[in-house]
Amino acid sequence: MIEVTGIHTYYGLSHVLFDISLTVSRGEIVCLLGRNGAGKSTTMKSIMGLTPPSQGTVKFKGENVTGRKPYLMARMGIGYVPDDRRVFADLTVAENLEISERRTGGHDAWTIDSVYDFFPPLRALDRRKAGFLSGGEQQMLTIGRALMTNPELLLLDEPTEGLAPIMVKMLEEHIARLKQKGLTVLLAEQNQKVALRLSDRGYVIDNGVIRYHGSIEELRANEEIRRKYLLV
Ligand SMILES: Nc1ncnc2c1ncn2[C@@H]1O[C@H](COP(=O)(O)OP(=O)(O)O)[C@@H](O)[C@H]1O
Ligand SMILES: [Mg+2]
Repeated sequence: MIEVTGIHTYYGLSHVLFDISLTVSRGEIVCLLGRNGAGKSTTMKSIMGLTPPSQGTVKFKGENVTGRKPYLMARMGIGYVPDDRRVFADLTVAENLEISERRTGGHDAWTIDSVYDFFPPLRALDRRKAGFLSGGEQQMLTIGRALMTNPELLLLDEPTEGLAPIMVKMLEEHIARLKQKGLTVLLAEQNQKVALRLSDRGYVIDNGVIRYHGSIEELRANEEIRRKYLLV
């Protein structure tokens, strides 16, 4: 579904991603694991067109979409949940969801109601201004907003970061359910435990370079790689 080949990305003069290649096939959850500053978010942003790569290609469903504007990527079916959980603080939960709606005509399209069925705590917060939500509630809302665009591919940037353990567990179950519903997910995580439980395959990124990729079983078994690049 997504095929990234040999991308290099800069912030100004600062070269941050070096020859990154990765693929995610339809129906998979693939994790991108790495320490803080490794380049996970920049990889997501490079796919989404927020930090267009200076070299290399990004293909989505076979089409070359390298450097295409983020709103066009969203329109093509990529949902992006950034790491900062930025909600529209002055809008209500319902309004945050409404303005993200993208109708695709599919019979199983996401609606506000199905997002509330999926994240029941949000229904009770319907009229609440989003700025007053807890961290976990905001994360449900940002994922809900991405779902309202009816994505085929979801880019989830450290969804569990900074959340209480009970929220982490809840989100993990929800991400697993998204996969059961047929969604394809690229999951950036520092939290190995969650990522190893959820994913089919994994990539390890360090200093802007992919150091390893393999099945989750292989990654779980490879303590050397995990110790070298993942444990703080
Ligand atoms: N807006 C920015 N301007 C300049 N450098 C940045 C910016 N965002 C991130 N970086 C740098 O790029 C590198 C990769 O960061 P990032 O992709 O955010 O890593 P991760 O998401 O794995 O923590 C880091 O060295 C970081 O300091
Ligand atoms: Mg990040």
